[in-house]
Amino acid sequence: MKHVSFLSFIFCFLLAPSSCAADNETESEMEPGRAEENVSSKKTIVVYFSQTEHTKAIAEHISEVVDADTWRIEALVPYTQADIDYGSSSSRTSVEQNDESARPKMKDARSNLDGYDVVYLGYPIWWGIAPRIILTFLESCDLSGKIVIPFCTSASSGIGTSDTQLHAFAPNATWMLGRRFAVGSSLETVRGWVNSVHPEKSGAYSMNLFVNGHKLTASMSSNSSASALRDLLEKGDLTILMSDYGGFEKVGPLGASLPANDEYITTEPGDIILYQGDKITLYYDVNAWNFTRLGKIDGVEGIDLKPILGDGGVTVVLSLNDNYTMLEDVGMPNPIERVEVFAVDGKLLGGSLERLRDGMNVVKYSMENGQTIIKKIIR
Ligand SMILES: Cc1cc2nc3c(=O)[nH]c(=O)nc-3n(C[C@H](O)[C@H](O)[C@H](O)COP(=O)(O)O)c2cc1C
Repeated sequence: MKHVSFLSFIFCFLLAPSSCAADNETESEMEPGRAEENVSSKKTIVVYFSQTEHTKAIAEHISEVVDADTWRIEALVPYTQADIDYGSSSSRTSVEQNDESARPKMKDARSNLDGYDVVYLGYPIWWGIAPRIILTFLESCDLSGKIVIPFCTSASSGIGTSDTQLHAFAPNATWMLGRRFAVGSSLETVRGWVNSVHPEKSGAYSMNLFVNGHKLTASMSSNSSASALRDLLEKGDLTILMSDYGGFEKVGPLGASLPANDEYITTEPGDIILYQGDKITLYYDVNAWNFTRLGKIDGVEGIDLKPILGDGGVTVVLSLNDNYTMLEDVGMPNPIERVEVFAVDGKLLGGSLERLRDGMNVVKYSMENGQTIIKKIIR
């Protein structure tokens, strides 16, 4: 479990908000506001927990933008000022947040959210993660088939993995990536985000990754870069030869340039990043640089990505489909002894493909912008 240390939180909280994350991060992805109108026909509810009303204010903004109902999670035993004393390691919140099994009781149960398609789920960051009462809610409520969109407020911390850690507690929901808001974020800031993520309005989507016999799913970001990647994937699966770099990532050429939305990011395992506009990277460890976030592999808390991605080079198929396309077998020898390389226009080029593993045949691949990409493969 990721848990910020007391000292680092205090440092972030009191001294250096801009270096610890996110006030400007929240503004950078904004899209312009739009006319006052409901953004969706999907029935929406904003569920939130808020101790000092900051998250409540964001919840109310979302409700106004989407014309959604709201429901506030309240603790059966309300938190007192002493309970939320983060300076004391024995305060109620410190003890609960340190105990993975803690499930503070809710004042009112909400066993189902029948009739709602979309659930925005809001919480304050407490010691780097969501308050344990959010888990109480998730475990008590059937969110199967619903789209859940997390959001949070904090003094300075970024959202970290506080949102993706929640997925395991409602595994049958369709989770979207969450968003952290600075305290006091405006209605227009919230509107920009909602318009970019809300189903029917947003570019958010799921992508599958097929690698070394594994199928991984990823929640893709709501930005122009991820949308451009989806446009590419709608034309067909992308098969990418990736090489290992730095002991923390696999990187390979996309074969096309996507618009960049760079921000300073400290990566976490599972992050899918656009690098220099035309390379895609899958992170299995930490790095920090100006990158564009494309998405995140789901459920990475429960798996070790490194053995799945393997050592050295690896072929990864990105697809919007549950199974990647199996094209007609063109009768190439297996294992491949000779690779014929075709440009998109069918013109025979020269080339080799040393990193292809046994059991894969090249149908064609192209040379675009001086880069080599496999376009189609057959297992
Ligand atoms: C027990 C506790 C722990 C907190 N831990 C963090 C933290 O790790 N990082 C951070 O930036 N803010 C932290 N905060 C500040 C809250 O996240 C922030 O004030 C939030 O906006 C409160 O939301 P609320 O008013 O909806 O309760 C913490 C606050 C409390 C009470």
